[in-house]
Amino acid sequence: MAKRIAVVTGGMGGIGHAISRELYDHGYRVVAGYSRKHEAALEWHSEQKKAGYDFDIAYADVTNFKSCEEMIAKIESGLGAVDILVNNAGITRDHACCKMSQEEWDLVILTDLSSVFYMTHAVINAMKARNYGRIINISSINGQKGQFGQVNYSAAKAGIHGFTKALALEVAKHHITVNTISPGYVATDMVMAIQDDIREKIIAQIPMGRLAEPEEVARVVSFLADERNSYITGANIAINGGQYMM
Ligand code: CAA
Repeated sequence: MAKRIAVVTGGMGGIGHAISRELYDHGYRVVAGYSRKHEAALEWHSEQKKAGYDFDIAYADVTNFKSCEEMIAKIESGLGAVDILVNNAGITRDHACCKMSQEEWDLVILTDLSSVFYMTHAVINAMKARNYGRIINISSINGQKGQFGQVNYSAAKAGIHGFTKALALEVAKHHITVNTISPGYVATDMVMAIQDDIREKIIAQIPMGRLAEPEEVARVVSFLADERNSYITGANIAINGGQYMM
């Protein structure tokens, strides 16, 4: 049987890089999505190849519906139908609500939430037609608990789980599962960009006493992607070192 095809948005970034590798290690054909400069993407691609990871890569501006459609159309015509979509791309633009600009609000909602609809819309009909699919949405602990300075990000990440549950209902009869993963604070550039003293205070609130490693999140993705895990749908799996329990 041909390898199943997995698309990971933001597949070259902190958590995305680890997800791409983990899925590759599990025998999937992995397309790492990017929106960065082409040269930087090509450089990442060749570095990965040297390390033994023969990824495919594909460009999409995930804030743009048409760009997402074009990306998926290219993958379908070049490689085949998408079996697994990991909606991982995301950004932060942190400010207290009273200081947040409309641009910061709009950009985070588009990048972190609308993108999930755009990408999913591009793959879902083909998944329905083939009666198989895995949609895995990367949310955040801050969509569950809220976070000072993140009304945009917390709203987008909370919205993801609403999307997950609604879509799970719509496609269950087509053997497509849809799930959310809500990581806590992970050791990536995004978290390392938080002011040192604030980050230290956050780490002090984590019962495990440390940040998560990206690979710890990636392992949950491969668990949900597994063909055998066909009865978990509409779920939200928290991976946050005990920082928030519900
Ligand atoms: N709780 C309560 N009050 C706070 C506060 C907090 N955490 N942080 C700041 N304040 C207070 C300030 O003391 C200040 O009070 P005064 O007006 O009385 O002086 C007021 O709130 C405004 O503070 P700032 O001027 O510093 O606000 P700002 O708009 O510049 O934003 C911030 C500050 C950048 C949001 C900063 O608080 C911060 O970086 N917080 C951490 C945000 C965070 O956790 N981001 C996560 C990024 S990683 C990620 O998102 C990945 C993931 O999924 C987990």
